[in-house]
Amino acid sequence: MIELTKRLVETWGPSGFEHRIRDLIREEVADLADETWIDGLGNLICRVGAGGKKVLIAAHMDEIGLMANYQEPESGYLRFANLGGLRNDSLNGNRVLFEDGTVGVIAVHNGGGKALSDFYIDVQADSGENATPVGQPAGFMREMQVRGRRVIAKSLDDRIGCVVAIETMRRLERQTPNDLYFAFTVQEEVGLRGAKTAAQGVHPDIGIAIDVTGSGDQIRGRKMQVKLGGGAAIKVHDPGLIVPLAIKNWMVERCEADGIPYQLELLMGGTTDASAIQMADAGVPSGCISIPTRYLHTTSETVDIDDVQACIDLLTGLLANDIAM
Ligand code: CO
Ligand code: ZN
Repeated sequence: MIELTKRLVETWGPSGFEHRIRDLIREEVADLADETWIDGLGNLICRVGAGGKKVLIAAHMDEIGLMANYQEPESGYLRFANLGGLRNDSLNGNRVLFEDGTVGVIAVHNGGGKALSDFYIDVQADSGENATPVGQPAGFMREMQVRGRRVIAKSLDDRIGCVVAIETMRRLERQTPNDLYFAFTVQEEVGLRGAKTAAQGVHPDIGIAIDVTGSGDQIRGRKMQVKLGGGAAIKVHDPGLIVPLAIKNWMVERCEADGIPYQLELLMGGTTDASAIQMADAGVPSGCISIPTRYLHTTSETVDIDDVQACIDLLTGLLANDIAM
């Protein structure tokens, strides 16, 4: 699981440009699904089983990134637009990789650093030449590290959710009484766009997003019940989703029955693919299994590997059994 996580987080794939990470996942799940296809927006959808409840499981492939949108006439420095929720307080000095292979360094004007317009990217190849043109997308560069039970990496949002989905498919070995659709979605970070078309294509009875959530155990930050090492986080509420009681209880009872450590998640900012899935068709009861994460949307997102395992155990337990709902 650690090795798969490393490969996924270090693969380039900002929102709208998920082709490399999609190729990697498609290869990884080739023997784990009965059928796979790519929908019109770019989601990778993997069907497992037949009969029973139709469940859509969504984990997003995209990572936050940026796109060069203007070149300063004299210096050649690039200005950029965000692809997803960049944290301006973590940009200065970070390296980015453009699609064409160019490495850029993000810098900030003296005394600036509050607004995106304070930043620029240095892509000079020498004193006269610029190495990449405007219109190029970029993702952040950072190697994954492991410290005891903790994994530190960029893009754990939501490659760790992809890991949970893939490892669950591995555990199921294509055996389930249900009709499962694992969707590795695109463009979550720019507004849950992939989940919308995935849900409209699949017409599920139930939706489950697998995504990261915050943690309340940092020195500063919002008060929040969730902590690293506290188990799988079962979402109760976020600004885009009020989880139906039947879904929440289904997850809690599974954890109780199987002895899986869990905690209840109430998130004050942000939402997941589940909030898009719930609005498909005439409405789809939807929930979310969350991986507690520190330093979200930075290049050093941090999770606890035991929490990840608990999420795999929970998702496998839910999907391997009949769903009485
Ligand atoms: Co995110
Ligand atoms: Zn996410």
